[in-house]
Amino acid sequence: MLGGQPIIILKENVERNRGQEAQRSNIAAAKAIASAVRTTLGPRGMDKMLVSGTGDVTITNDGATILTDIAVQHPGAKMVIEVARAQDDEVGDGTTTAVVLVGALMEQAEQLIAKKIHPTVIGQGYRMGMEKALEIIDDLSITIDPFDRNILLKIADTAMTGKSIESVKGKLDGIVVDSVMLIAEKKDGKITVDDDNVTIKKQAGHAMDDAELVQGIVLDKTRFTEDMPRKVTGAKVALVASPMEIVKTQVKAKIKISSSDQMSAFSAQERDALKKLADAVIDSGANVLFCQKGIADAVGYYLARAGVLAVEDVPEKDMKFAALALNAEIVNKPGELTKKSLGSAAMVEQVENADLIKVSGCKNPKAVTILLRGSTEYLLDELERAVVDGTRVVEDAMEDGKLLVGGGAVETELLMKLHEYAGTVGGRVQLAIEAYAASFEIIPTTLAENSGFNQLDKLVELKAAHAKGKKHAGLNVYTGKIIDMFKEGVVEPHRSKRQSIQSSAEAAVLLLRVDDMMITQEKSPGSAGA
Ligand SMILES: Nc1ncnc2c1ncn2[C@@H]1O[C@H](COP(=O)(O)OP(=O)(O)O)[C@@H](O)[C@H]1O
Ligand SMILES: [Mg+2]
Repeated sequence: MLGGQPIIILKENVERNRGQEAQRSNIAAAKAIASAVRTTLGPRGMDKMLVSGTGDVTITNDGATILTDIAVQHPGAKMVIEVARAQDDEVGDGTTTAVVLVGALMEQAEQLIAKKIHPTVIGQGYRMGMEKALEIIDDLSITIDPFDRNILLKIADTAMTGKSIESVKGKLDGIVVDSVMLIAEKKDGKITVDDDNVTIKKQAGHAMDDAELVQGIVLDKTRFTEDMPRKVTGAKVALVASPMEIVKTQVKAKIKISSSDQMSAFSAQERDALKKLADAVIDSGANVLFCQKGIADAVGYYLARAGVLAVEDVPEKDMKFAALALNAEIVNKPGELTKKSLGSAAMVEQVENADLIKVSGCKNPKAVTILLRGSTEYLLDELERAVVDGTRVVEDAMEDGKLLVGGGAVETELLMKLHEYAGTVGGRVQLAIEAYAASFEIIPTTLAENSGFNQLDKLVELKAAHAKGKKHAGLNVYTGKIIDMFKEGVVEPHRSKRQSIQSSAEAAVLLLRVDDMMITQEKSPGSAGA
């Protein structure tokens, strides 16, 4: 108060939460987000149906998809979703795990705060616990030969379980692993995988079992006219970005040109200009043309007459992938085509009974396409999410050459080892480390619960097995037995657990440090840096 006048710093429309209220609010938000995805965890988790404002429906089991699609307001909730997004970007799998962990950490913190332990102490304990946890998982990690196809198949399989694609999983595992192995590069003893080299294409209306791996490019297009060859071997492919049309034409109606007589509908000048466009392609030596824009019928006619297989309206993404796979240059205008700008492929063909153009035997053998087929769009989308997760974890495992076992085994080991570690620390921070350790219970108990088993019984059985030194003991979610997860082939990349441990603790610490939250109700459209 200055001279009896209150100093107003905040605008009226700012909602403010302070101290415990801000903490409580963030804890509640994190718990709410975690509980929204908890039931999807593991192979026997449930799916969620998401309905957008415009009525689009997505059915998924994928944590990242669920969280990025649901609309949230609360800043604390947004931060938890950010954890999922980061997990998805960095690893491609383990998003549900990361978010469920944040929820558990916040729940534990809530109890500590009730016992009057200061959030700073909790933060300190969580950080110490996290550092220790990272050490423990390094010790637990299993080194693999990055080109061991069998183990990679198991990694892909673990990441793809739980999505509604069980019937074709075996086949997809193979496709996923083979495509990543094809594009993996070994440089200076290090393996790198550039996922720009894999493209996923979806085709509705076919059996899922027809999925295939194409060493090259697939366009979901047909050739411009049936007068063009269905198949070109020894292909020289031109990639043109601009339309193969002339801007002004006297001819209003679109006419199909299949004979030279019909060309007389054009003025001599127009005919000349159109022929020039076609000739630029033909003279460059190309026998295949992918055009990012439209092709005029007359140009198509000339191209067909010269035996060129042309495709129009090829999306930019496909053009770029074609340039990479074919080692070709995308030219802006047909006049800029030279022999050097063309790409070569063993074969370009229109697939029988499908609107697909397949380009195989490309110059760059490191470009592959996974062609997915399925009866409905929903199914295809979920199939794609599974394959994306699968390829990402195989990449991670090949790059790092390190695995951990799944089924709650690592988390059980962590909670026991961390509990021991807490005992060596002492003081109030010990309580925080104990709470941190206990948070890991959420993974095995949720796996048990989602599979229809008693959480407590399974946790006790797991702990008993680990106490006997069985580091790989995890839950068989189908039988409820505690078994060796490595023998069972339930394996995950080390990177996935590492990231989820790190990002969940960091998010929790950050959220706990907040003791003042100001939510601006309205943002003026032009306001900067809000
Ligand atoms: N066959 C299996 N048996 C037991 N646990 C499994 C199996 N496959 C996957 N899991 C476990 O399921 C969890 C991952 O579930 P998932 O729904 O894919 O969530 P996330 O988004 O975290 O990857 C991991 O803890 C993993 O170890
Ligand atoms: Mg997963």
